[in-house]
Amino acid sequence: MAFARIEPCLERVHEAETPRRTDLERLLGLTDPADIERLFDFADEVRRRHVGDAIPVRAIVEFSNHCRNRCAYCGLQAGNAVLERYRLDAGQVLKAAGRVADMGIGTVVLQSGEDPRMPAEWLGEVIERIKTRFDMAVTLSVGERSRDDYTLWRRCGANRYLLKIETGVPDRYERLHPAMSFENRRRCLKDLAELGYQVGSGIIVGLRGQTIATLADDIIFLKACGLDMVSVGPFIPHPHTALGGQPAADLMLTLKALAVARILMPDAHMPATTALAYLDGVDRRAAALAAGANVIMVKCTPYEVRRLYDIYPGGAPVDADTAATLAQLEATASILGRQLDYSRGDCIRTLRGPLPPSICQPGYYAGKITNAM
Ligand code: 5AD
Repeated sequence: MAFARIEPCLERVHEAETPRRTDLERLLGLTDPADIERLFDFADEVRRRHVGDAIPVRAIVEFSNHCRNRCAYCGLQAGNAVLERYRLDAGQVLKAAGRVADMGIGTVVLQSGEDPRMPAEWLGEVIERIKTRFDMAVTLSVGERSRDDYTLWRRCGANRYLLKIETGVPDRYERLHPAMSFENRRRCLKDLAELGYQVGSGIIVGLRGQTIATLADDIIFLKACGLDMVSVGPFIPHPHTALGGQPAADLMLTLKALAVARILMPDAHMPATTALAYLDGVDRRAAALAAGANVIMVKCTPYEVRRLYDIYPGGAPVDADTAATLAQLEATASILGRQLDYSRGDCIRTLRGPLPPSICQPGYYAGKITNAM
């Protein structure tokens, strides 16, 4: 059989602390359909053994599309003057979190661009009010901030943080992110881990200048970070960005990268990224769930502003009703013989062992803050 040849390579990658780059390049470069199928099956089996068949659901509330950065690929970049900007107030975020709770979902991701006018205290109070009112894990995804801000939010009860590295190759990172530094990004990831957050990062497949070798390096970087959550998603060109004229990511390469990441990071929570639903006109998330992914995200951003969170084309549907989306995802899960899981969906490390040193003190910020935003 064709795939007998790649078996030793799969095993080596699975067992490696520091994988050989040549092994990753070989897997990412597979072209024989039988080999690729074997890669996906191997990743699917690793996923099943380590994180199980349940598909944890994460609700996402995108509370501001203001951004000070000019990332070459993202539609929210500061130079996009065509985009109407919005910022929810605390009451609106609380209301959205309430809808998440009503749907029985045990975790909410609060995401925004890097909004320079979002005071840390404002978000701290929002976190605290969500934690007081609802029994929910709170994940933040608001970009690079000071260690003090991360500390404050952790004290207010935030549990997790997502900060994608996008690429683990420093000079590529800095070309894609004008005026940003790889070093500061790394500092943020380190601070977050030290503060006891469950930390997620990730990469985009198919960005200009990427090769199989740099993609292998991206995945090796993610492994070295010791992450709890890892995202591997496809690039989709946005017309009002520097990379607007570039081709979208190759679906197969994206799935191969996802599978390799799973084999290397067996315990990580890995989403079937929302971008995979919009890559080529077909929702590819089921394929991702069968090639190593285990988590799914649902948008719970208020309908009125949803279309404005325009990261990539197609990614901000206004009409999709959250309950209907969930019903669809239930159906997808059941075709795969799996089930959605509405619980908090903590990372494996947290579930297994003692929590990392925690500075979390619910109630810390109560009443100290006036609504600054
Ligand atoms: N295509 C795919 N993913 C994108 N993101 C931003 N722009 C794009 C794009 N054009 C992803 C980045 C970012 C997340 C919020 O969305 O990984 O971290």
